[in-house]
Order: sequence, then C-alpha cells, then structure tokens
Amino acid sequence: MVTHERARQWFLPAPLEEQPKVEVDTGVAHIARVYNYWLGGKDNFAADREAAELVISAYPSILASVRAQRDFLGRAVEYLVAQAGVCQFLDIGTGLPTASNTHEVAQLVAPESRVVYVDNDPIVLAHARALLASDPAGTTAYLDADLRDTSGILAAAANTLDFSQPVAVMLIGVLHCVPDADDPAGLVRRLLDAVPPGSHLVIAHPASDIHATQIGSAANRLNQVMADPVTMRSHAEVARFFDGLDLVAPGLVQLHRWRAVPADPEVDLANYGGVARKR
Ligand SMILES: C[S@@+](CC[C@H](N)C(=O)[O-])C[C@H]1O[C@@H](n2cnc3c(N)ncnc32)[C@H](O)[C@@H]1O
Repeated sequence: MVTHERARQWFLPAPLEEQPKVEVDTGVAHIARVYNYWLGGKDNFAADREAAELVISAYPSILASVRAQRDFLGRAVEYLVAQAGVCQFLDIGTGLPTASNTHEVAQLVAPESRVVYVDNDPIVLAHARALLASDPAGTTAYLDADLRDTSGILAAAANTLDFSQPVAVMLIGVLHCVPDADDPAGLVRRLLDAVPPGSHLVIAHPASDIHATQIGSAANRLNQVMADPVTMRSHAEVARFFDGLDLVAPGLVQLHRWRAVPADPEVDLANYGGVARKR
C-alpha cells in the first residue's frame, strides 16, 4: 500500500542535523539493494543477495543486463543534452548512487543541467548525498517519494526544475516495480502532461517476451522473496507507455542496441529501452 505523503526533499548543503534518519528493513529483499548486488555494489544484505542469486541462476544474463541498463542511461542522457538540447531531468527510481549518475553524465556536457532524483527506498535516501554533489553551475535535488505520488513529485520538483522548459522524465528500471493494478500508464501520462513540448520520456523495462522461459522463472523466483512484486512486460506493453509521443530512432529496442556503437550482435538481453519526444 502506498502512503501519499508529500514528497520530502533535500538539497546540498544540508546541515548534518537535517539529514534524514532512515529505517531499513534488512530481513526482506528490496529491489534497490538486489540491483546494487547485481552491479557489484556493497550496499545489500543477505536477503537481497539470496534473491539476486535466485535470479542469476534462472537468467545469468541479468548481470550483463543491469550493466547494459546503466550504459543505456548514459547514452540516453548524452543524447538528450548534446542533441535534443534538454538539460532538466526528473529521474524517478534512481537507485543507489553508482558510476555515471544522471547529473554526472548531463553536467559533463552541460554543467548547468538540473536533476531531481526520486526514489522510495530508505537506503537510497541514506546514500542520497552522493547524488547531490552537483556542478556549481547546475543543481541536483533528491525527493524521498513514490512514483505513484505524481502530484507530490511534480510539486516538489518544481522547486528545482522549470516546468516551462523541456524536461526529460527518466523511468529507468522502475515501471516493472508498478503492477498493472496501480495503472503505470496513467502515472506516465500524468508526468508527461506536466511537461512542455520538446520534453522527453526515457524508459528502460525488463522484457517478458525475450528469453521468455528464463525471464518468467526469474520473475517468479523474485516475487516469492521480494518485499514488492515485479511485472515483466512485452514489447507491445512497454510501447504503450510511449503512446502519443514520437519515438526517437531507433525506437523501442533491446536497450543494448539503442544507439550503441558498435551493437554487439552476440548479445541478446531481455531488457527494452526507448526515448520519445513530446510534440
Ligand atoms: C532496478 S533499480 C534501477 C535503478 C536505476 N534507475 C538504474 O537503472 O540504474 C529500481 C529503483 O526504483 C526504485 N523504486 C521501485 N519502486 C518505486 C516506486 N514506486 N517509487 C519510487 N521508486 C521506486 C527502487 O527503490 C530502486 O532504487
């Protein structure tokens, strides 16, 4: 169940006494920590590692897939800043800080870039300071909020982002954490309704229709041990999130093939990626 609290927000520099105190449930696997384990990070607990290993045994390519997802994020942000001229980002489902976070990639090209990070996991909140180390020419902020609270997110993000100018809404590896019953397409629509023409939507989403048997087994295993379930989706189901928008070439593809040079023909990952522009 989601509590629709107002999104809480921190900027740097925040005095130490204002740093949030977080409570972390270490007994059950959480996706942010499972993902951190797959990426080779250390911010995870026994329950997360067990869940992560269950998936690895069903679908060993998960390790290549999560690294490819980070690479896709980097290429998409680079494209948006360098070619589409977008330098505002609303990155929802940020995950634990790792190499090449959104603001680092964007500010390398356009130091004035502004990034609002959003995640609902307390351990991401605990590490959020690493996401707030902005180039002085730009700004970063972190919101402790749930994707399902779109109005709270948009209200708080408006303190950092100028919603009269294009914004890239980044939903990288997070929509599969929202079951169909919570209307993920409606959430995407509400976010895109709030941004002007020239804004972009970036999605990475695990595929249910590539290596379907392995992926089905991995998802079932994960859903038996995770605090929150995941929903893999087909190409057609992920494509629907882009309805009404213009997909940038090459469209919605396996994310390691999205503007990758060279795209390795041997790699075949069950993970879709796409970027689209609002007219
Ligand atoms: C698989 S990780 C992806 C991290 C990052 N976007 C990346 O691609 O490297 C998914 C992240 O989404 C967050 N998340 C899951 N459900 C969420 C929700 N309803 N609202 C906000 N964040 C959520 C998790 O806590 C986790 O950090």
